[in-house]
Amino acid sequence: MTDKNIESILIEKRRFAPSAEFTAGARLKPADLEALHAEAAADYEGFWAARAREELSWDKPFTTVLDDSKAPNYAWFTDGELNVSANCLDVHLAERGDKTAIIFEGEEGDRRNLSYRELTSEVSRFANALQAQGAAAGDRIVIYMPMVPEAVIAMQACARIGAIHSVVFGGFSANALRDRIIDAGAKMVITADGGRRGGSVIELKQATDAALAEGCASIEKVIVLKRTGHEINMTAGRDIWWDDAVAEQSDVCEPVALNAEHPLFLLYTSGSTGKPKGIQHSSAGYLLQAKLTSKWVFDLNDSDVFWCTADVGWITGHSYVAYGPLAAGATIVMYEGGPVYPDAGRFWKMCEELGVTVFYTAPTALRALMKFGDEFPNQYDLSKIRLLGTVGEPINPEAWMWYHTVIGKERCPIVDTWWQTETGGIMMTPVPGVTATKPGSCTLALPGIMTDVVDDSGNSVEAADAGGYLVIRKPWPSMLRTIWGDNDRYIETYWEKFRNRFYVAGDSAHRDADGYFWIMGRIDDVVNVSGHRLGTMEVESALVAHQRVVEAAVVSRPHDVKGESIFAYVVFRGDRPTGAEAEALTKELRDWVGEQVGAIAKPDDIRFTDNLPKTRSGKIMRRLLRAIARGEEITQDTSTLENEAILDQLRGLA
Ligand code: PRX
Repeated sequence: MTDKNIESILIEKRRFAPSAEFTAGARLKPADLEALHAEAAADYEGFWAARAREELSWDKPFTTVLDDSKAPNYAWFTDGELNVSANCLDVHLAERGDKTAIIFEGEEGDRRNLSYRELTSEVSRFANALQAQGAAAGDRIVIYMPMVPEAVIAMQACARIGAIHSVVFGGFSANALRDRIIDAGAKMVITADGGRRGGSVIELKQATDAALAEGCASIEKVIVLKRTGHEINMTAGRDIWWDDAVAEQSDVCEPVALNAEHPLFLLYTSGSTGKPKGIQHSSAGYLLQAKLTSKWVFDLNDSDVFWCTADVGWITGHSYVAYGPLAAGATIVMYEGGPVYPDAGRFWKMCEELGVTVFYTAPTALRALMKFGDEFPNQYDLSKIRLLGTVGEPINPEAWMWYHTVIGKERCPIVDTWWQTETGGIMMTPVPGVTATKPGSCTLALPGIMTDVVDDSGNSVEAADAGGYLVIRKPWPSMLRTIWGDNDRYIETYWEKFRNRFYVAGDSAHRDADGYFWIMGRIDDVVNVSGHRLGTMEVESALVAHQRVVEAAVVSRPHDVKGESIFAYVVFRGDRPTGAEAEALTKELRDWVGEQVGAIAKPDDIRFTDNLPKTRSGKIMRRLLRAIARGEEITQDTSTLENEAILDQLRGLA
C-alpha cells in the first residue's frame, strides 16, 4: 500500500430498504437523520454539546465542549462532572425501577432477572465492598469473569466509585492476564471460581493464581465469585469470596461525581507489536456515544429485549452490554455459555423463550451456525425479532443473506456496524429505519462522525470503488484518550502517518458510487480470528518464547468460519522436523501458544522450515508468506532469496 491504491475487490449490487412499517415505528426517521447531519455539519461542537446535555445527567454542567489544546490528545466536556453508573442506573429508578434490566441465562439453563432497582442495589453493595477492601477512585481493578450479571455489577461498581476497570476476556491465559495486571498496575482482581462454556468449566481462579504467582506485586486483593462451586484454592489475607465481601454492606452507595475526562476503563487490544495496548476511555464522552448509538442504531425503546452476544471481555460487551443499553433504560439479555451448547439451536431457542426483539452478533457466529443448517432456527418462533446487527469484521454476502432470510424472515433491517475498541462506539452503520443496506457494506457514518478514505498523501479518494486508508477527520467524544502508560505509542499508532491531521483507523476501505463505505481489512499486522482481534506479532513472540523455536513468522489466511485463521512458519533448533515428529511438535506448539496467549490464538497451520525468506535488508518477506499460506500465485521477485529451495519447504512440498 505504499505507492499505489489498494484495489477494491468486493462489489455487491443488491439493496434492501427498510419496510415502511419499520420506518413508521423507528426512533429516527429520514427527516430526523437528515436534520442531525445538518446540525453536525453546521456546528460540530454545538451538535455534540446539545447531545451531551440531552442524554446525560450532570452533577456539574460543562462549559467547555472540545479541548484541542493538547491535540491529538483531545478532551471533551472538560469542566463537567458526572457519574457513569448513576447515568445507567439511578436515573431510571423513578420511571422504570421495576423494569427488568438484565435477563440472565446460564449455560445449564438457570435463569435470573434483575430489575433496575435490584441492579442498582447490587451495584451499590458491591461498590461499598470494593471501598471496604481498599479501592478508591483512580485505582485499576482487573475483572476476569464469566458472562454472568456480576461481571456487569463489578464494572458498574467500579464506575460508581471511580475505580478504573480493565476487563480481561475469560478466554485469555494466565500469562496474558499477568501482562495486563502488570501493565495497568492493578490493585485488585475480581474473578470467579470458574465459568461454563461448551459443557466444560473454565478455570478462572486457577488461572488467576497462576498469573499472580509471578511479578504482580501491585495486587492486594482478589474477590472471588462462587459460580461453579468446584474446588479452588483461596489464599488467606489476599482472597475473599464475593458473598463475604458484600455480606455486611449497605445497598446504598452515593455515586461519586467525577470529572468528564476521568478514565472509566482500560481495555487491552492487539496492535502491530507483541505487546497489547491498554486503550484508555473517558467517562462522559464514552457514555454519551454508547448511549446515543444504543438508541440510534438499535432503536431501543421500552418494550425491547436487546441481546448483544459479545462477551464483556471485548469492547462490544462494554458499550452494548454493560453501559449503552442500560444508559438507554433497555432490557438486556446476558448468556454465559457457548452458541452450540447443547446444540446449534441455543441462540434461537433463547430468542424465542426470552422474547428477544433486537439481536446483535458477529459474522463468525453466523457462519458457524449456518453450517448446521436451517432446521435449527426453523424450530423456533423468531417473530418477535425486529432488528438484527453484526459487528467485528466484514460480513460476507452469503452469511448476510442467511441472516436476512432465515433469521430475519426478510422482515428485519440488518445493521452492519463498523467501529473499534478505540472508537468506543459505533461509527459507521445503517440507521435501521432510514438507510437502504447492501450486504457487506457498513454504509455511512453516523451524524457527528467524519469518516473518509484517503490516499498515501492524505488526499480524499473521490473515485468510486478506489481504495485507501480509512481515517476520521474530526475528534469524537468516545474516542480513546491515550494508550495507558505510553502516549508516544498512541500518537505514533493513530496520528503520525498524516502528521496529526486525522485519526488513522488501521483499516483500508473504499466507497462506492453511492458513497457507501466498504471495509477491506487491516493494513497493519492485526488479524481478525472469529471476530477477535489478534496481533501476528503477539503470536510470533509466543512461538519464539518456546525453547526450541529459533524464529517464527505468522500470517493469516481466509477461513470459512473464523473469517481469518493463523498460519505460522517456524524455524526449529536442530534438524527440521518432518513426518510424525512434525505432527507431535505442531500439537505441542499449538498448546504452547494457547498457554501463552489463549486458545483463540492457536495457529491452525504450522509449517516447519529451515529458514524464513528475507529481503536483502533482513526483513521477513511477509507478503510472500501470506501468498503461500493462501495458496496464491507468487508475484514477488524471489531471486534475492539466499536459498531458493526454501520455497518448496514453505509450500509444504519438501
Ligand atoms: O478491522 C475492523 C474490524 O474490527 C476492527 C476493530 O476490532 P476491535 O477493536 O476488536 O473491535 C471489534 C468490535 C467493534 C476494525 O478495525 N471491524 C469491526 N467491525 C467491522 C469491521 N470490519 C468490517 N465491518 C465491520 N462492521
